[in-house]
Amino acid sequence: MSDFDSLAAATQAARTVRPTGVERSFGQDEVIVTKTDLKGRITYANDVFCRVSAIEEADLLGRPHSIIRHPEMPKAVFQLLWDTLKDRRELFAYVVNLAGDGAHYWVLAHVTPSIGPNGEVVGYHSNRRLPDPRAIREIEPIYRTLAAEERRHGRAADAARVGADLLHQMLAERNTDYDRFVWSLTNGAAA
Ligand SMILES: Cc1cc2nc3c(=O)[nH]c(=O)nc-3n(C[C@H](O)[C@H](O)[C@H](O)COP(=O)(O)O)c2cc1C
Repeated sequence: MSDFDSLAAATQAARTVRPTGVERSFGQDEVIVTKTDLKGRITYANDVFCRVSAIEEADLLGRPHSIIRHPEMPKAVFQLLWDTLKDRRELFAYVVNLAGDGAHYWVLAHVTPSIGPNGEVVGYHSNRRLPDPRAIREIEPIYRTLAAEERRHGRAADAARVGADLLHQMLAERNTDYDRFVWSLTNGAAA
């Protein structure tokens, strides 16, 4: 098998992982870290990421982050993530990820562009911490509603647009935006 074939086979295998419904946790003092290039391909993953994701480092480097994408994660949140990064801004987001063994784990992610010596964006960086379960109880039904709506649309672009509109509407009804909502959960949960 050529390098390309084995890469394609491993990526395919990672994509067909079925969620088992088993939730995984990690330490409150631990940080899950990855770095990516400009296309979002993983260039660095720390040992906490490998352990919690149940994927070896050699199977991660060069892969897109979507290999740990959970089917219940709304596309709208990733659209917001990439729009924010392209704007050279940082984002805090609640994300549920799928591990290589089918377990899932929730994180509060802080994703930022990495700036090079000439002020140019050279890649992206994500630090993820263990969220408070009370915050997850708030965000989970919102994500479930968004993902269900998105699934009704076949084309990925349509699904992301409809999801983004619905997310905007749900947040507007709460008189907030994603950033402030995430912080209200984070601070409220920590209180
Ligand atoms: C630094 C960085 C970290 C990311 N972390 C995750 C992550 O933990 N989980 C995830 O599903 N996507 C993550 N993404 C987003 C993915 O690149 C991708 O947009 C997302 O998984 C949606 O995949 P899809 O377009 O195949 O549906 C990250 C992107 C960047 C730039």
